[in-house]
Amino acid sequence: KKIKDQVLVIFGASGDLTYRKLVPALFDLYKQKSLPDNFVVLGVARSSFTDESFKEKMIDGIRQFSISKDAPEKEVNTFAEKLFYLSINTDDGTEYSKLTSRLNEFDSEKGTDGNYLFYLSTPPNLYPLIPKFLAQEGLNESKGKIRRIVIEKPFGTDLKSAVELNKSLLNDYEEHQIYRMDHYLGKETVQNLLVTRFSNSIYEPLWNRNYIHHVEITAAESIGVENRGGYYDHSGAMRDMIQNHLFQLLALVAMEPPTVIESDAIRNEKLKVFQALRPLSHVDIQNNVIRGQYTAANVKRVPQKGYREEKGVDPNSRTETYVAMKMFIDNWRWGGVPFYVRTGKHLPTRVSEIVIHFKPTPLNLFVDNKEYCSDGNVLVIRIHPDEGILLKTGMKVPGNGYKVKEVNMDFHYSQLQDTYVPGAYERLLLDAMLGDSTLYTRGDALEFAWKFVQPILDYWETNPNAPLYGYPCGSWGPECADGLIEGENMTWRYPC
Ligand code: BG6
Repeated sequence: KKIKDQVLVIFGASGDLTYRKLVPALFDLYKQKSLPDNFVVLGVARSSFTDESFKEKMIDGIRQFSISKDAPEKEVNTFAEKLFYLSINTDDGTEYSKLTSRLNEFDSEKGTDGNYLFYLSTPPNLYPLIPKFLAQEGLNESKGKIRRIVIEKPFGTDLKSAVELNKSLLNDYEEHQIYRMDHYLGKETVQNLLVTRFSNSIYEPLWNRNYIHHVEITAAESIGVENRGGYYDHSGAMRDMIQNHLFQLLALVAMEPPTVIESDAIRNEKLKVFQALRPLSHVDIQNNVIRGQYTAANVKRVPQKGYREEKGVDPNSRTETYVAMKMFIDNWRWGGVPFYVRTGKHLPTRVSEIVIHFKPTPLNLFVDNKEYCSDGNVLVIRIHPDEGILLKTGMKVPGNGYKVKEVNMDFHYSQLQDTYVPGAYERLLLDAMLGDSTLYTRGDALEFAWKFVQPILDYWETNPNAPLYGYPCGSWGPECADGLIEGENMTWRYPC
């Protein structure tokens, strides 16, 4: 599908995301020859950049963060000619006429043909305002032109605010014009989940409660909150990672096959997963949800600050930097299968993976085998780093008797040496420009995801003394999280 000529307007253009992710990804798209001939990026924010100083800053970002950061100077400069900047007070509706005039200029001078994609990468309090101001300028009316809005996470801070934001957007825009961002969906390996499940006849017949014992989804980070303490302290791991990124992974693992690979067909099936999540009672929250907060430690001999000593964080903060939880999906396929979800900052390593634990064979024939005690095959889908897929199977050790050994069938994306693997933002920006919302979340599913986590947030809010376990930086989080996993001698997978 050919991308139409268009202007990409980035609100919040002076921020980190534009510098580190968006513009470097746009440059990668340019390198891949994926951008349309007539294409303009207009950065919008309050800070007073000129076109020139904005370009300079963005070139610096490309040089550090783009996949093609070593591209020849001429190429980077030619791309930078597409970048412009407009300084306005984005929370003042009367300033938006300046934006309209600038867009009209682009249409006549750069041939962008009235097609506009608006990307909101601002503080979330502006998410309801900016679309409204754009609508007041008539910039929401498509009339055959591209008029789309991309909204970065967080989409709401709780169920109520997410419902309100959806409502306010839908007053001025059609659902098909709204693109709610979750960058996990742009990751190549996450999309590969659909292909692994639905293009292989060997997995799907086993992909249910009859053969799967339990499922683990982990997103571990080795970094802390860095310079984002101010934001994070009002968010916490449940809002920052679980409600969005990890639930998106859960939906892709658990959904039914769609009838076609199309946006609504896929998103309808994902919605049903969120609708089937078993609501958590207070007792379930006490027993099945564990929260933690990192404390100071020497990690690899480097002292790491505790969370409460981080800049922007309340010294008495009870915000969680770690969550592990057990949940169930009450439907025909998954009845009784526990799903374990876990995320945390300052864990020993950075890894995101989905681990499918198959049930053991009905009878262990190789009973004399002291070295091998199989709890069942394990399929590990590694989202990052070292993207790939690994299946653990039993194999006979050559020689006398029947000694069994666990071996790995292991595929790494890095083996695809000549294949270009696009970054998540690259893929998602391209899709928004094309008008393909498959990898964006839909309003209804998002609300159901909030609906599920809301009782947990409320419980923590109203019971400030509910346990919050400290865990030293560089450890795997509170030890009691091991006890969540049902089954004798079973525990989380601890990848190195
Ligand atoms: C962001 C969170 O959405 O995702 C961050 O706000 C987190 O706190 C990041 O670090 C993780 O993304 P990735 O792609 O590095 O796993």
